[in-house]
Amino acid sequence: MQTSTQKVHPEDPSVGSSADVSATGVETLQLREAAQPSAQVIELEPLLAPAAKPHTAASTAASPAEGSADNATWRKFHKQGIPEYLARRYWWAYLWNVSVWFFDHAFIINTILFGNYFKLMRAALTRLDPEFDGRVLQITCVYGAFTPSMAEKMPKCELHLLDVADVQIQSTLRKLRVAKGAAAAGVNPARMNAETLAYADNSFDKVVIFFLLHELPHDARARALDEAMRVLRPNGKLLIAEYGELGTTHVMHRIKFLRNTLEAMEPFLGRFRKENLVEKIRDTASRAGMAVTDVFQLPVFGGFYRVVDFAMKPAADVQSRAGKS
Ligand SMILES: C[S@@+](CC[C@H](N)C(=O)[O-])C[C@H]1O[C@@H](n2cnc3c(N)ncnc32)[C@H](O)[C@@H]1O
Repeated sequence: MQTSTQKVHPEDPSVGSSADVSATGVETLQLREAAQPSAQVIELEPLLAPAAKPHTAASTAASPAEGSADNATWRKFHKQGIPEYLARRYWWAYLWNVSVWFFDHAFIINTILFGNYFKLMRAALTRLDPEFDGRVLQITCVYGAFTPSMAEKMPKCELHLLDVADVQIQSTLRKLRVAKGAAAAGVNPARMNAETLAYADNSFDKVVIFFLLHELPHDARARALDEAMRVLRPNGKLLIAEYGELGTTHVMHRIKFLRNTLEAMEPFLGRFRKENLVEKIRDTASRAGMAVTDVFQLPVFGGFYRVVDFAMKPAADVQSRAGKS
């Protein structure tokens, strides 16, 4: 018996307005802050040096920056404990000090998201209750003002933040300090792999995942979702901002060149967009002894992106209620 509800909301025009988010102020301060050197100092010279050997056939699927030699750029990050897929495919975007400085500007992020960055951030923030005083976990850092805005929107919550890359954690902490001053002290950062969380079972009331899932290979994504569900309390909520499912009507889906270009930059996006995220979350919840009881979907940019908020209940409660009715 289907016991959950699912609402797909038309795009909310107010989502693109300035609403209650002081994102612009945060970003202005952040530009100045992001230019400072990060705590993790990575040597520039070896990073900029060309790969020692040309690509072999076996390495053609990897990023252009990858060499076949043992000293390929990504291996330096992998040796520091970064998962191979992240080091190989995204070192240039998330792990290198220079790229963190470069990408962490609202203008750049907004361009990468085809002008939808503020809309997406506000859409996600509309799902947060300013009075919420539970424990919130944000799984991985994100560029831009999302984390400071979330901390600002829910000043009473206990916010935890994890990322496997120290350079990203340091950058977010700088943004939080600038945006929130002393209040940022309430944010609990941890360096951790999303696939193997160190938190106890049932320890968060809300888990937030902003644009991470499409960057994980299929198996890593499944493990990260299992872990997110394990640490979520049985009555918790899971908030996900992501690319929408691949359809046949959106212009960005129909134009092969656009599709291929984006998927060349985002090697795991293709498979992610073909999956049914809602079903995947239902399955994951069920493995964790929970049932999804409500799904709120807010399409952004005609569904090219989406914000999805899942409410859970213990599966046993849902079954017994269903049995009585
Ligand atoms: C959330 S995604 C990027 C979101 C979006 N593109 C943005 O920044 O606006 C990138 C972050 O995820 C982190 N990350 C990727 N894989 C991870 C994993 N397995 N465990 C923890 N952090 C991970 C990266 O270090 C990076 O900080």
